[in-house]
Amino acid sequence: MANIHAGLGTSHIPLLGRIIDIGDSAKPDWAPVFSGFEFTKQWIQKQAPDVIILVYNDHATTFDMKFIPTFAIGCAEEFKPADEGYGARPVPIVKGAPELAWHLTEQLILNGFDMTVVNEMDVDHGLTVPLSMVFGQVEKWPCRVIPLAVNTMVYPAPTGERCLALGKALRKAIEQFPAELNVQVWGTGGMSHQLLGERAGLINQPWDISFMDRLKDNATELAKISQEQYIRESGTEGSEMVMWLIMRGALNRVKEVHRHYHVPVSNTALGHIIFEEEELP
Ligand code: DHB
Ligand code: FE
Repeated sequence: MANIHAGLGTSHIPLLGRIIDIGDSAKPDWAPVFSGFEFTKQWIQKQAPDVIILVYNDHATTFDMKFIPTFAIGCAEEFKPADEGYGARPVPIVKGAPELAWHLTEQLILNGFDMTVVNEMDVDHGLTVPLSMVFGQVEKWPCRVIPLAVNTMVYPAPTGERCLALGKALRKAIEQFPAELNVQVWGTGGMSHQLLGERAGLINQPWDISFMDRLKDNATELAKISQEQYIRESGTEGSEMVMWLIMRGALNRVKEVHRHYHVPVSNTALGHIIFEEEELP
């Protein structure tokens, strides 16, 4: 059967994609940012996941005000990179895992999560930047990816509690898939930032640190934070953090094996965490 033993959370800052794409990530100015992913690059080689369920929010690249799915799952064979701002990144096409994606869709819907199935979808920095941060510049991505897009752009976003519960349902569904696959769930976005308006540039470091401290053992407490509270405390885009709760929900008891935090990167507090499940005694 398929199994899941690890997950990670990371910001998905478009500027970092750009820095990687123009070959500047080794420059000294960027060392404090990218050095926090050196551990991750080694770690992912050892973990060698077959499939990553990559939880991200689309930033008006594929979905605009015409369609606002709360939870969308990409069931296609492949997904083209696209983006607002800098335009499509020069990165490989993202290969999907349709059989597993359809299985997850079925199980999630039967368990009360009415997923929107998407058979054609371009993927933006929310998905491609985390892949680049972890795998670097590659000719093809080393594993399959199932995009799981969450609306965090337009009020109302799904609650933290719903996201944590979706993670738990995802886990159950993964474990029911009859193929030997090593699956990971990644949660992306955040940490505190606000891109527009009078409070643009807002960063709340104590809030971010507290979130990371509590994610391992107190996720149910974090799940009570409302979208309004995220916005008030950590900026409009700080509310992207609910997506880390989907990752956490998909894991049982964990140990934190890596953490990185750097302020600021572009307009954002960069956060990154890796969890591995504790071995059962
Ligand atoms: C920035 C961060 C984001 O998460 C995003 O989606 C867009 C821009 C930024 O800091 O520039
Ligand atoms: Fe974002």
